[in-house]
Amino acid sequence: MASSRPLEHKLCLDEDGLVRRHRFAQDCAREAGKIARRYFRSEHPLPSLEKGRHDLVTQADLEIDHFLIEQITGAFPADGILTEETGGSPARHLWVIDPIDGTLNFTRDIAHFAVSIAFCVDGRTESGVVYDPVSDEMFTARRGQGALCNGQPMRIRATHGPADAVVDAGYSHRHPASAYVGLIRDLLADGYAFIQNGSAALGLAQVACGRIDAFCELSLKSWDVLAGLLLVEEAGGSASDFPIGLGQAQARRVLACTPAIRPALEELLQKAEAAMSGTD
Ligand code: IPD
Ligand code: CA
Repeated sequence: MASSRPLEHKLCLDEDGLVRRHRFAQDCAREAGKIARRYFRSEHPLPSLEKGRHDLVTQADLEIDHFLIEQITGAFPADGILTEETGGSPARHLWVIDPIDGTLNFTRDIAHFAVSIAFCVDGRTESGVVYDPVSDEMFTARRGQGALCNGQPMRIRATHGPADAVVDAGYSHRHPASAYVGLIRDLLADGYAFIQNGSAALGLAQVACGRIDAFCELSLKSWDVLAGLLLVEEAGGSASDFPIGLGQAQARRVLACTPAIRPALEELLQKAEAAMSGTD
C-alpha cells in the first residue's frame, strides 16, 4: 500500500546511509579546503562584506558555501541543509555547515580557520567533520564510534584542575563586553590559562585532541559548533547539548571540556550568562 507520508519521513537511514554521508562529508571538506587555500594569503585582496562588527563574509566563504550545497544536493537530494551564509530550515536529515569558521583570522592571513560539516538525524549529530586546510588535519567523529584526527584516535587531555588547564574562551561583538570581561576575570582568578584563537570549530577540535582543555563561548550558532561538539564527546570529553528544538539558527552558550573541570567552568559560564542580561 502506498504511503501518504512526505518523502523525508520515508527516508530510512541505516548504517550504510550514515557511513556514506560521513565519508562524503570528508571528501567535501577536503575539496572545500582547496578553495580556501586558493584564496588564503593570496596576493589579490579578498573582497569581504561586514555582517556585523568584526563579523565578515568573504568571496571564499560564499564560494565554499555554494560548493557544499551543490555537492550535497547532488548526492543526497532529500536531505535538508543549513549553512552560515545561506541559511536553511530544520529537517529530519540535516547537514549543518560553516564554510569557513574563523573568517576574521582567514582575512588577516592567520592560519587558524576550518571547514565544519555536521550531519544530524532527528536533531542529533551523527557525523562531525572539521577540516583545517592549512595544517591538513581532518578531525572526524561518528556517534558512538570515537573520534579521529587524520585517521588516528583522539582523546581529550587528562586535566587535573585549573592550574593545569588552558581554556579557549571565544568572543564576538554579539556578547555584551561586560559579561565576557567578567568571565575572563573569573577564569584568570581561578588559575586557568586563557586563549582566544578565533575559531569555535577548531577550538573544539583542539579540545578533542588534547591540545587544550576547554572551549567555551557565551553565544554561538549551530554551524559553528555541532561538528566540534561531537568530536569532543566522542574523544571522551563533556560537551554541552545543542538541541534542535531551539531552532538551529538560534545562538546558545557552549562549553566543551575535560569532565574534571566541567562543573567549575559551567558555574563561571552561568554567572557570565546571567550578567548578559545586564548592561554592556
Ligand atoms: C566565529 C568563530 C569565532 C567565534 C565567533 C564566530 P565565523 O565564526 O567561530 O571563534 O568567537 O563567535 O562567529 O564568523 O568565523 O564563522
Ligand atoms: Ca562560524
